[in-house]
Amino acid sequence: MAKKDIDWGNLGFGYVKTDKRYVSNFKDGKWDEGKLSSDDMITMSECACVLQYAQTCFEGLKAYTTKDGKIVCFRPDLNAKRMADSCERMKMPVFPVERFVEAIKQTVKANAQWVPPFGSGATLYLRPFMFGSDAIIGVKPANEFQFRIFATPVGPYFKGGIKPLTLRVSDLDRAAPHGTGHIKAGLNYAMSLYNIVDAHEKGYDENIYLDSGSRTFIEETGGANIIFITKDNKVVTPKSNTILPSITRRSLMVVAKEYLGLEVEEREIRLDEIGEFAECGLCGTAAVISPVGKIVDHSKEICFPAGMESMGPVTKKLYDTLTGIQMGEIPAPEGWIEVIE
Ligand code: PLP
Ligand code: COI
Repeated sequence: MAKKDIDWGNLGFGYVKTDKRYVSNFKDGKWDEGKLSSDDMITMSECACVLQYAQTCFEGLKAYTTKDGKIVCFRPDLNAKRMADSCERMKMPVFPVERFVEAIKQTVKANAQWVPPFGSGATLYLRPFMFGSDAIIGVKPANEFQFRIFATPVGPYFKGGIKPLTLRVSDLDRAAPHGTGHIKAGLNYAMSLYNIVDAHEKGYDENIYLDSGSRTFIEETGGANIIFITKDNKVVTPKSNTILPSITRRSLMVVAKEYLGLEVEEREIRLDEIGEFAECGLCGTAAVISPVGKIVDHSKEICFPAGMESMGPVTKKLYDTLTGIQMGEIPAPEGWIEVIE
């Protein structure tokens, strides 16, 4: 099938309207059968719960063209399960896991011409989301909901591709203890908008959030989890109840251990120990693995030995192995790759 005529290599991380999106509505206690639609517009009450009380959650995953021309998705079942957790915490009806995976497949298939070619540096980003759609004025959950998945071709999340990033340690918090940091609720991102604009204005690529209870431990950034590499090549990542359980990070820990024979550790990481690490990276669906060159903690600069020019050697191995699995060049663990067609 002919692909769209797009300069794939120069795509940034932006929205491009594609042909079809999946839509299912929840009413009278049940989901309808769902369908693909050409209509990218949503009409709803001015008093819709999502507009008044931000009752919404979302997911993010990608479709890839493999070397042999297949279209695949990476672990969509884990996105389905994480969305179910988000829905439960937000008092929204779960969209069943099997239906979620089936809806992803339908959406990708219907937009096959938009899945960037192998080796182009771009991928098809899928954004499943759900929101409370009926009019709610007293503070309570909606009765009616819409679940939707749109697709948009994307390039790298951070401008400059894989050039190491400069992060700053944030003075503002993102997630409260016992709050919603562990789910993918829109409200967590609303909380971070002031801070990301401020960071960019001051020349930083992203904010590193600390645990808001003690402001001692590293948590994550606004849109990705964090990994560190020790000087003896151990992969270390923060353990916290208030960060998003990244599917990329969970996959990377398996890749590090099973494919690269590295030691892995999930533990609390103190801000005052990060200067001891050899490499640092951000990981997520959008970020893939983006190397970090420098973390600025107010007047103190922590510069990782790998420098500001290229990825550190262990980060690079992790990146190559993970993307190799996603693009079908390296055999994947059982169940990680969902073939679309
Ligand atoms: N942390 C936050 C706050 C995110 O928004 C994301 C993106 O989804 C991640 C981490 C990475 O998660 P995943 O690897 O599942 O995309
Ligand atoms: C993703 O990686 O899918 C996300 O949702 C992160 C977002 C900041 C784009």
